[in-house]
Amino acid sequence: MEFAQSKALFARNRRLIPGGVVSLNRLVDPEIAFVRGCGPRVWDADGNAYLDYHAGFAPYLLGHSHPEVQAAVVRSVEEGWTLMGSGTTPWEGRAAELLCESVASLDRVQLTTTGSEATYHALRLSRAHTGRDHIVVMQGGYNGWHDEVACNVMTPLEKLGPRSEGRENPFVPLSAGMPSNVASRVHVIEFNDLEAVEWCFRNYEVACLVTEPILQNIGIVKPRAGYLQGLRDLCDRYGVVLVFDEVKTGFRHALGGYQSLVGVRPDLSTFGKAIANGYPLGAIGGKAEIMDLFSHPDADRRVLIAGTFNGHPAPVAAAIATMEILKRDQAAIYPKLEALGARMQQGLEALFDRHGVTVTVARQGSAFCVYFMDHAPKNWHDLASNNDMARDVRYRKALIARGVYHFPLPTKQGSISTAHTEADIDATLEATDAVLRDGI
Ligand SMILES: Cc1ncc(COP(=O)(O)O)c(C=O)c1O
Repeated sequence: MEFAQSKALFARNRRLIPGGVVSLNRLVDPEIAFVRGCGPRVWDADGNAYLDYHAGFAPYLLGHSHPEVQAAVVRSVEEGWTLMGSGTTPWEGRAAELLCESVASLDRVQLTTTGSEATYHALRLSRAHTGRDHIVVMQGGYNGWHDEVACNVMTPLEKLGPRSEGRENPFVPLSAGMPSNVASRVHVIEFNDLEAVEWCFRNYEVACLVTEPILQNIGIVKPRAGYLQGLRDLCDRYGVVLVFDEVKTGFRHALGGYQSLVGVRPDLSTFGKAIANGYPLGAIGGKAEIMDLFSHPDADRRVLIAGTFNGHPAPVAAAIATMEILKRDQAAIYPKLEALGARMQQGLEALFDRHGVTVTVARQGSAFCVYFMDHAPKNWHDLASNNDMARDVRYRKALIARGVYHFPLPTKQGSISTAHTEADIDATLEATDAVLRDGI
């Protein structure tokens, strides 16, 4: 594969953009400049085509450039939907209706531009509601780039060291430049460990616990049976706000969020990504008594939500179109995604078995991950101790060289869209077979 144009673009952009990328998470090897996407495929600046399983970090549930979503955005532009920045609009009300109709735990919602803004507001609302400062987050969870949650995703085990009495991990920031006191109010624990949750709740004034209901930023790390209900019960007992960060799971696994599949209702939920099929929209929603703090009559108790681009017509038009498609076609869409996911999982398991390579294919519906270890991980400690990270990356790079784009970092989720076909899955399996034949 030739990457001459990609190389040239990186060199040119690096002159002015630090690192040459606008999100540090995009700086990976091989360095590729992508210029077009349609359905399940993307093309780079050199004209190489890829079957895409990265999906822009997962938003493209309906595939790239979905015709109905594109048409809705174009229509919003042509009809002159504008961002007045004063008062309200019909389209933000429609998006709110669709969200509240889709997700049972949402009495109220607010729209943001990104998932990070939504999780930021979740912290602020929780603190205003409880009058407490501390938060609990999961090791291996990602909840955005702001201080307090930008920590402890794929932390090297040597940085975590031995765990404390309460089985807390040390706060390991993802960024320089955070205030030094952030760590004192953020408590990082391993997923699937209810005892650690209770220890934190007993020992700190905790406002909220924030978790992805499946850890999908380290592949697919599922909650064990009863874990999410256990979180619900502990939050109720200690008066802690339970926040499900469904930015990645929401709309991908079910219209009602992953919470609808497990039957556990959080107090607040955050959404993003698949909600607008690739356009920038986030949302926070939940119980009226908490959400209404955004409009509390007493100014001293009111929580600020602001943003010049909140409710921008183009992404909101995309979100309305996406949610209407999901609502209209959900009886076909989710079974199709499940069937494609199952075909991928079974095909991969058979191939790796035939080639004598030990892996575990973890999957929830259309989201999957090949772990180079002999069991499904229960948390980051388990994963980091057992997954062959170097082999994981070699596998991904070898697939890229054969026109199948998996993000070339270990444990990153693969995302199938409704635009993928059985033939695409089979072509992916053929490429995988070739990769395994060559050896990784
Ligand atoms: C679970 C989760 N929460 C929050 C975020 C942050 O969303 P955004 O990148 O739109 O700010 C992400 C992004 O990857 C995410 O996966």
